[in-house]
Amino acid sequence: MVDAACHSISTDDFSLVVEITADNDLVWRHWGAKLTGPLFALAGTQTRTTFSLDHEVPMGVVPTSGFGWFGPPAFRCHRGGKHAGQRVKVHSVAISATTFEAVLSDESCGIEIIVTIAPQGGCLRIATRLRNVGTTPLSVEDLAAAILPLPPHAEAIVSFSGRHNGEMVEHCEPMPAQGWYREQRAGLTGHGGPPGLFVLGEGADWHHGEVWAAQLAWSGNHRLAVEPVGAGGWAGLLGASYGPGEIILAPGDTLSAPEVLACYSGHGRNGAIRCFHDAVRANRRSPGAFLKPRPVHFNSWEGAYFDHDEARMIALVESAATLGVERFVLDDGWFRGRASDEAGLGDWVADPLRYPRGLGPVAQRVNDLGMEFGLWVEPEMVNPDSDLYRQHPDWVLGATEVRPLPLARHQLVLDMARDDVRDHLFGALSTLLRDVPIAYLKWDHNRALAPASGADGRGSATAQVRGTWALWDRLRAAFPQVEMEACAAGGGRIDAGFAARADRFWTSDNIDAVSRTAIQRGFLHFMPPEMMGAHVGASPSHATGRTQSLDFRAIMALPGHFGIELAPDRLTADERERLAYWVARYKALRDWLHNGVTWLGEGSDGLQWQAHGAAQHFLLLVTRTQPSRNGREGPLRLPMLADAPHVVVRLLDQADRASGLGMDTMAGAEQSFPGRWLAAYGLPLPHLSGEGAALFEIVAST
Ligand code: GLA
Repeated sequence: MVDAACHSISTDDFSLVVEITADNDLVWRHWGAKLTGPLFALAGTQTRTTFSLDHEVPMGVVPTSGFGWFGPPAFRCHRGGKHAGQRVKVHSVAISATTFEAVLSDESCGIEIIVTIAPQGGCLRIATRLRNVGTTPLSVEDLAAAILPLPPHAEAIVSFSGRHNGEMVEHCEPMPAQGWYREQRAGLTGHGGPPGLFVLGEGADWHHGEVWAAQLAWSGNHRLAVEPVGAGGWAGLLGASYGPGEIILAPGDTLSAPEVLACYSGHGRNGAIRCFHDAVRANRRSPGAFLKPRPVHFNSWEGAYFDHDEARMIALVESAATLGVERFVLDDGWFRGRASDEAGLGDWVADPLRYPRGLGPVAQRVNDLGMEFGLWVEPEMVNPDSDLYRQHPDWVLGATEVRPLPLARHQLVLDMARDDVRDHLFGALSTLLRDVPIAYLKWDHNRALAPASGADGRGSATAQVRGTWALWDRLRAAFPQVEMEACAAGGGRIDAGFAARADRFWTSDNIDAVSRTAIQRGFLHFMPPEMMGAHVGASPSHATGRTQSLDFRAIMALPGHFGIELAPDRLTADERERLAYWVARYKALRDWLHNGVTWLGEGSDGLQWQAHGAAQHFLLLVTRTQPSRNGREGPLRLPMLADAPHVVVRLLDQADRASGLGMDTMAGAEQSFPGRWLAAYGLPLPHLSGEGAALFEIVAST
């Protein structure tokens, strides 16, 4: 029977189907392959089980406990200890060509939930709001941003964990018998990367099979959970987590859960990655709504650390310019009292000792040499040894009666929920942006929130995120031409919430090119390459002490937003020449690396690859970070070329200490292959030694 109460919300590739039952419940029916045409209501088709209620309790879009749903509930709240909102029923539904919106309510408890589902790029964006329509305050302990249905044929969860200098480490675990959880409690996104996960269906790999993926657009504490539910499937939950008493809604107030980007792919992980990249790109607020070709950065941090003064910086600026750099970013160490990380945060004026003429002369020299000037700031933080703290010791997080407060990197966190704090920071940053020709702000955040409460002792981790976002939004609106980067001790704040505000993320303080292969693959699962800060660092690497050739360091940075972070005067003449070569290479390839599709894949014996561009014309980067067991590389299969009758392959670059081996036929010359052969048998590869990479251009005829 065709049921008008079934609604499909679809992108080009997949559908979410919901059903309004005869009892006015809003339930999930499908998250998967696109369904068009008549939809069939499933209510009443499920057999009852023993030891169950006498009525069917399918998985709701907003499942609530108390009336027969024993999976994770969509919210937990109470009104003075009495449970509120146990049974939300559909009150009204609004459906347009693209958007589905349902209002659910429990009138007796004074609760209203509004769920909106609409496409964003290749994803569906799910927004959930809870409104207190009662007459007394409502305490909310939990509000899931989304609880999504995962089918019984799901097989594995791919997720990421991390630490400073070791971001986005991938894990693949079987679907849980009991439950799977990832919870972040440090007050920011965390070094495990975006709050999100990929669920793989039977036999799914990079290119084939079913994959369900979702990420939360949130930059604070959060919870991801996967729990088995009745019918053999799982419930996948994503949500911000709130501290006790943190959310108390006055009558009429609304709590908005962070938005969720959800997608489904019938083409393996790469299909889901493509949906995420599309969705992030569709929501970006870049200057003029257009992300210009990503300029080559020079970042002063690892080249100078706190060793600043005008003459030294101008020398660094001049060296950077000779390498072809397009944007010079003056990192930490430029502001009042900042001779080390022990002082200065909060005082956002140039240090009078090291920059007696202000930042103007350095910025001017940067501009005169044809580069943009960028500046590092860490506005949410304050050192106790700063004028700001001496004037406003009450502006920091932490109940007034709790002293001393725990320091981290000698700093405390400002309470971003306070209007006076935000106004002060807006004023200080606006003055800088007006007085100095700053085209770019690198915005850092170098410690966890501990404690995460305001001066009155109320939990404020959530308000901290919202306050920071509000300040970003205000600055972006006031200075629309200034680009901004989100950084938190490397990649501690990479998420779709910041992706809607930032033009770039700093991926990791670990610039070791071997470490970066894994970190960057983690990043690319959620975010597009043009937002991935990727620098050529020094050798030995400051984070790991390992040495790598300059070519290998550069080729690994190439697909991201490329930059340099080292002391150029410590390079040999040959290294400088090679670096200038890679800068030019990046400029020639960036449009192509950045505006298209990304594919990730694996070859045999530890080989990894990634490709960027379009199916007919792309760049292929093949990398090895461990010596091979074999004398020769196995051929590399490229599934996306299966339908191309004719493919031309050109080896553009090799970065390998033992380069040239075994590649005589391909070096410098084009080779042609049938696409099917490349998909089924594979592309012959040069031998890659311990750490090596090869870059190919691939052109497929249709
Ligand atoms: C953090 C950032 C670095 C650098 C330093 C400066 O660690 O990730 O890139 O800016 O702070 O203190």
